[in-house]
Amino acid sequence: MLIPLLRSHLGRYRKPIAAVIALQFVQTMCTLFLPTINAEIIDNGILKGNTHYIWTHGALMLAITFLQVVFAVWAVYYSARLAMGFGRDVRSGLFHRVTSFSAQEVNHFGSPSLITRITNDVQQVQMLVLMSCTLLVAAPIMAVGGVTMALRQDIALSGLLIFVIPALVIPIGFVVYRMVPQFRTIQDRIDVVNRVLREQITGIRVVRAFIREPEEAKRFEDVNTELTAASLRAGHLMALMFPIVMVVLNVSSVAAIWMGADRIASGDMQIGSLIAFLTYLTQIIMAVMMATFMAIMIPRAAVCAERIKEVLDTPSTVVAPDTVVAPTGRGLELRHVGFHYPGAAAPVLDDVSFTVEPGQTLAVIGSTGSGKTTLLGVIPRLFDVTAGSVLVDGVDVRELDPEVLWGRIGLVPQKPYLFSGTVASNLRYADPEATDDDLWEALEIAQATDFVRAMPEGLDSPITQGGANVSGGQRQRLAIARALVRKPGIFLFDDSFSALDLATDARLRAALAPHTRDVVTVIVAQRVSTISTAHQILVLEDGKAVGLGTHEDLLEHCPTYIEIVASQHAEEAVA
Ligand SMILES: Nc1ncnc2c1ncn2[C@@H]1O[C@H](COP(=O)(O)OP(=O)(O)OP(=O)(O)O)[C@@H](O)[C@H]1O
Ligand SMILES: [Mg+2]
Repeated sequence: MLIPLLRSHLGRYRKPIAAVIALQFVQTMCTLFLPTINAEIIDNGILKGNTHYIWTHGALMLAITFLQVVFAVWAVYYSARLAMGFGRDVRSGLFHRVTSFSAQEVNHFGSPSLITRITNDVQQVQMLVLMSCTLLVAAPIMAVGGVTMALRQDIALSGLLIFVIPALVIPIGFVVYRMVPQFRTIQDRIDVVNRVLREQITGIRVVRAFIREPEEAKRFEDVNTELTAASLRAGHLMALMFPIVMVVLNVSSVAAIWMGADRIASGDMQIGSLIAFLTYLTQIIMAVMMATFMAIMIPRAAVCAERIKEVLDTPSTVVAPDTVVAPTGRGLELRHVGFHYPGAAAPVLDDVSFTVEPGQTLAVIGSTGSGKTTLLGVIPRLFDVTAGSVLVDGVDVRELDPEVLWGRIGLVPQKPYLFSGTVASNLRYADPEATDDDLWEALEIAQATDFVRAMPEGLDSPITQGGANVSGGQRQRLAIARALVRKPGIFLFDDSFSALDLATDARLRAALAPHTRDVVTVIVAQRVSTISTAHQILVLEDGKAVGLGTHEDLLEHCPTYIEIVASQHAEEAVA
């Protein structure tokens, strides 16, 4: 999973990657060259008392060091740009994919997991790219170069490497192998912590109202402890790495000095060579350590890449058609519409049919859970019908250009959502070009003028995320105004009048009437008084249409409708 992700997103960075490799090569070569010059200074300068040799070669070392620093900085600069660019591209790819998702795919992953994937998971892979450019590229050059240089200093002593390298690789390999499963656990637990936290913050009022703080605190503590435990297990293993490296390094240095001392005493080797050999030994061990360090990052990044790919490779079930069909008529028609939520046994909608001409109003009534919201959802393709078809302006919605379809529809959802910003910015969501007068007109119809005027800055009054700083009824009216600003061809109101008192409800509908004269209006409502004047009323029961007609028709023929009316009359009588 990691490789395809890297391949698909690093393709456009070929040049910077080549530059990084070249820079790292020069940089590492400089590093490898220094111990050899150092050895020559010791052997030819210090031991022979040649001050001039020390000065010239010292200056050479300084120049090489300077070069090495410049190239190292340059390489890191390119690497950072490359890795951050990669992260930005993947995040943007994920974001575009997620915004194309229908409600179904979002439900499948869950928003907290999607957020973790877009932020934390991308960051892990981005980190891997950065570390690869800075460490992984240099490590093999350093290791191979180090061995070559060590051999040049003293072949006999280099035999030591045959023992040192496996002594390092085997224990570290074992540690890495044990760490891999922990990383998947960590990423999954981060998801869980996000989910619990999000649920609790969103539902804080409910938590308070039911005095569930201790239980919720415990629930959070549990998932938090699980995340900590998994991270600690990985941390404990990681803690072993450095001591292992240090033990191998020190033991092998002692061995090199011990063996080297004999060879110097017997005149087979010079002091400078031994010192250079020790430096190469350190460089080789460091290179192996860097490579194994990367080996830890790769599995974690692979887990993250898999989670990222999963999102990138999930096609939206609501796809744009290959060839779009232009509208042929006007109005809204549902033909034998059926809908199943994935995995659910029973259909939520079953054989629902109706036609609404422009200028007409269809009201939908039915008990909770009868499928009213689902019915409205299939019209703008929040999810696609599983049977039958929805026709907007005479064309199946699956054959219309989605932009055209959405542009035709003004939806006021049951749970209206406002974005952080101002009243005006929320209303202009529907139409960025709308003038202040347009906005006031929409607010006037939605019966929202009074409270917007009462706000300190009118249209520019701030709205917090989700619309938390306005009341439920105010939020509903702002959502209605937002749909009105769009001037759509089809209005879908999902229970949008429920938070309004009867008088405001009546005024709103009266003000709305002239604006819906040649558009299709579908109103989902609970109160018979809200819908009794509608041209058609659809009575839903468990997803089936059990009645369709005017108020008077239904009063004669539809037992379910009669029951609803009777129960509401009884309530009014009690009141
Ligand atoms: N995302 C979902 N996944 C699975 N089942 C769902 C989902 N959303 C709704 N349902 C089921 O579909 C049925 C109809 O839900 P819907 O929201 O359409 O009802 P409704 O008529 O709008 O109810 P209300 O009057 O309470 O708003 C319910 O029984 C519910 O359990
Ligand atoms: Mg509903």
